[in-house]
Amino acid sequence: MKKNNIVLIGFMGCGKTTVGIRLSYRLRMVVEDTDKLIEKKTGRTITDIFAVDGEGHFRDLETGLLRELCDSCSDKIISVGGGTPVREANRPLLKSLGTVVYLRVRPETVYERLKGDTTRPLLQGDHPEEKIRQLMAARQEAYEGCADLIIDTDELDISSILDKIEAYVGRTDTKE
Ligand code: S3P
Repeated sequence: MKKNNIVLIGFMGCGKTTVGIRLSYRLRMVVEDTDKLIEKKTGRTITDIFAVDGEGHFRDLETGLLRELCDSCSDKIISVGGGTPVREANRPLLKSLGTVVYLRVRPETVYERLKGDTTRPLLQGDHPEEKIRQLMAARQEAYEGCADLIIDTDELDISSILDKIEAYVGRTDTKE
């Protein structure tokens, strides 16, 4: 059975963290962030986990955490890492966690927001713009496939994004 959390998915820099925090004020719900939960649990940064143990290990930690959240988490907003929906096993977990909202964004917007960022291991090194474009294209289907609601965020201000989520969640609440 689907739980009643609101799950925010989308590419790095799409605004999951900001939207999650603002939505938590508006709906008076607690917000959790899976990257932060992993950092807290392991006592390490995402950068360190990627550098020392590799991406595969980080993905295993993500899947383990999602399973735990499926058992324990309700009435919350959960913002997940940009790569979480890519692993096929994670998609049914995300869906069963709650209403999945995909914050879609254009690659140019991500580049503008994240150029100079050093905390995203997958975007370090040369040609970050190209990396963003390729990764995003490869992930699009996974994001769209597990979303209940897709919001194109580039031209929207934050309160319009919140309005759309609130309207959708309200609508699904009254249906049930
Ligand atoms: C990742 C996104 C990051 C973090 C890690 C990997 C990805 O989270 O989980 O660096 O694969 O897209 P944000 O989307 O919050 O930046």
